[in-house]
Amino acid sequence: MTNEQITEGVDPSSNFQLSTPDLQRLISSKRVVALTGAGVSAESGIPTFRDAQTGLWSKYDPMQLATPEAFARNPKLVWDWYQWRRDLFRDKKPNAGHYALAEMEKIFPHFVVVTQNIDGLHRMAGSTAIVELHGNISRDKCSRENVVIERAQAKASADGLFKCPRCGAYLRPDVVWFGETLPRDALDRAFQEAMQCDVLLSIGTSALVEPAASLPRIAQEAGAFIIEINPDETPLSQSADAVLRGKSGGVLPQLAALLKRKM
Ligand code: APR
Repeated sequence: MTNEQITEGVDPSSNFQLSTPDLQRLISSKRVVALTGAGVSAESGIPTFRDAQTGLWSKYDPMQLATPEAFARNPKLVWDWYQWRRDLFRDKKPNAGHYALAEMEKIFPHFVVVTQNIDGLHRMAGSTAIVELHGNISRDKCSRENVVIERAQAKASADGLFKCPRCGAYLRPDVVWFGETLPRDALDRAFQEAMQCDVLLSIGTSALVEPAASLPRIAQEAGAFIIEINPDETPLSQSADAVLRGKSGGVLPQLAALLKRKM
């Protein structure tokens, strides 16, 4: 029985095989979840959260800035850091991996992207069924009422920040900070999709940060087939049913092309 050989044109180290039974398992799936992390945006030039901070921000530890305590202590410092990150993201575009996932949404009867990324690139690439577990850096919300506020409705503040038009509290980025709980509706939807899927693709995530890191185990315990796509080993690699050891920007388009040929 020959294995389907998927070879990535760019990075020979990514040559890997998806066995025919594994491919058959994917082809026959009705419900597929793609759990994505920072690695999916790496080839769009977006540094992962833990990448070295550059320039003015190099002396700050992101883990010390992305917290509610840091914002309460010094809202301007945290706000300015996010403005710097927003500027960094502004010219970034989806890569071939994002577009391949948007393609897969058209191939499978039910396909959902559950992302830990806050860069909005999945939507920009054309995915529509998306669960943003950690929020979205392009949105602001009231730091007191926790509701999204359009920038046009906000009140400018003398210190360069913006305030809620209703209660006057500072606006903050609509992202999940360390020590905060994830948005309830997003978390509930992610767990529900994981428990009901036939296949879960874990793509470009170190599988370390909870509760997202539990989704592959929950899916596997409910009977799903787990495929990891990552150039590096992660804590999930041992328990995954299949591992495609490669970069998502190369692997995913090959996988989408193979699925389109077979389905
Ligand atoms: N293709 C696929 N995977 C890649 C690529 C690539 N081109 N480049 C790097 N990776 C992998 C890395 O090997 C690593 O396993 O992507 C993973 C990125 O891991 P993290 O930087 O820990 O990002 P993530 O898993 O999304 O972190 C989860 O923690 O940092 C906080 O809130 C932040 O959402 C983030 C969460």
